[in-house]
Amino acid sequence: CGIVGILGNTSVTPLVVKALTRLEYRGYDSAGVATLKNGQIERRRAEGKLRNLEQKLSQTPLSGTIGIGHTRWATHGKPNETNAHPHATDKLAVVHNGIIENFRELKTDLETKGIVFETETDTEVVAQLVTYEMRQGRPPIEAVAVTLPRLRGAFALGFLFSGEEDLLIGARHGAPLAIGYGDGEMFLGSDALALAPFTDEISYLEDGDCALLRRKGVEIHDASGQNVHRPLHKIPTGSFLADKGNHRHFMAKEIHEQPEVVGRTLAHYVNFSAGRIELPFDLPFDFKNLQRVSISACGTAYLAGLISKYWFERLARVPVEIDVASEFRYREAPLEPGSLALFVSQSGETADTLASLRYAAAHGQHTVSVVNVPTSTMARESSVVAPTLAGVEVGVASTKAFTCQLSVLLCLAIAAGRARGTLSEDAEKELVTALIGVPGLMSEAMKCEHQIEVLARELSKAKDVLYLGRGTSYPLALEGALKLKEISYIHAEGYAAGELKHGPIALIDETMPVIVIAPHDPVFEKTVSNMQEVAARGGRIILITDEKGALETGLDTMATIVMPSAHPVVAPIVHSIPIQLLAYHTAVVMGKDVDQPRNLAKSVTVE
Ligand code: G6P
Repeated sequence: CGIVGILGNTSVTPLVVKALTRLEYRGYDSAGVATLKNGQIERRRAEGKLRNLEQKLSQTPLSGTIGIGHTRWATHGKPNETNAHPHATDKLAVVHNGIIENFRELKTDLETKGIVFETETDTEVVAQLVTYEMRQGRPPIEAVAVTLPRLRGAFALGFLFSGEEDLLIGARHGAPLAIGYGDGEMFLGSDALALAPFTDEISYLEDGDCALLRRKGVEIHDASGQNVHRPLHKIPTGSFLADKGNHRHFMAKEIHEQPEVVGRTLAHYVNFSAGRIELPFDLPFDFKNLQRVSISACGTAYLAGLISKYWFERLARVPVEIDVASEFRYREAPLEPGSLALFVSQSGETADTLASLRYAAAHGQHTVSVVNVPTSTMARESSVVAPTLAGVEVGVASTKAFTCQLSVLLCLAIAAGRARGTLSEDAEKELVTALIGVPGLMSEAMKCEHQIEVLARELSKAKDVLYLGRGTSYPLALEGALKLKEISYIHAEGYAAGELKHGPIALIDETMPVIVIAPHDPVFEKTVSNMQEVAARGGRIILITDEKGALETGLDTMATIVMPSAHPVVAPIVHSIPIQLLAYHTAVVMGKDVDQPRNLAKSVTVE
């Protein structure tokens, strides 16, 4: 969810909505605004995308110079209008991101006191608790202060009070919240991006902070109630929200931007003329001394991490453990102090990945985060930030962030290999030469787009699709399946090609397309054998390979998508293009909402 609060001098509703459009990446199940009109709380809320709320506001406008807003990714309660934020009583309105874990217990307690709830949400409990305290005679600030310690979970909150024309309260407990400073105006928002149209001066709340915003400034109290100062950051303006350019969707634009942003990212890590990797930061440890690397991440970022496991192990001969962050954070993995814990995240805010980072830091790990948003919480909390320079990614299904993550992870693996003496100078040069060629090969790879558009019409008729790959093509098979299901809602699964015979082969018949990712690499022939097994059972194969692979398969396929030849180590970066285009065009043919698929959010700040 995304939250915003504005203490303004003109009508704030259009500003709140403007900020919400920049927060829609955090969820778009429903949206709402609350303002004060003659001291009374007024709300407009709507189910579905923000445009529904905008429509409602054009029919029944909302005046007021102070307001809060919310865009929701449902956790507790259906994404309907009743459950949409802001939640309100006669005393206050509240917007909330995150989960109040003990809400049942608190709700029961309030119900025994005769309080009747209108919604199924955990948020209403907060509204009712603070209201209850105010009815006992406490002023708003005190009512919030006594309520916050009773709430368990990871959350951020924004409050607006009846009759209080110059007060907004923001509280951060595990979910991000930023304060924006204007000229006689103040802002509260889930991130700097939301506030960028209004101000470039931001400070970030820390966990446990409670901020009292007034037009003349902000007073911040930490968890112990002490007055604290949080440093001011100048946020570069203009670098934020992108437009679609000539493309129909952000996802299409982001797929096509990859040669450029991957090139930009690589230029940050590679000394092209010397033919070597030069990391743009100092490391507080030596790769040479590492016994182990542990990686955690979620979704597509996890799959980038999984590909890098192959690279770190092969090039740097260092054992890698990788987990999805929601497992790592509770697995209580024993960690040797002084080891390297790597985190991969586009947003740098994903709740599970952030919790894993904190676990690792608490257990003496050197934490390195590969993140795309340089102002994110993970970037701020890691010992080292390894930035991806993908620029703002708007499409919910990650594309350019993924290939930039791969580029950075490969550079780190090469640097580790050199430091550990497992990669000779010549071998490094060879890999760097391969890396330099990647943006060009990605452009070349785009030429398959027309063929894929035609193929997508076939694929769109499928009920199930299987993706197969070996080696680094295996995580890519998982990513292909993830992309397809995310945006087309076709059921898809990725498997290691060698696992086919241990189960999924039972599913194969002439109705199920099987997409095989097989560049001509050292495991190519093994994958061809698995394709034979599919063909022998009447399976319809879509083969993604390179020029050499296409010549050598000797199999009838439904289609063969030919990529330019790439060094096997960098092939997964190039082969990402056709799997992204396949998912994209299939979803477009099916008329799906490609940039904002149902039920998903770009940045998931709840666990
Ligand atoms: C969500 C997005 C995915 C993304 C994942 C991890 O599920 O829909 O595209 O891969 O979160 O996000 P992060 O920001 O940590 O990379």
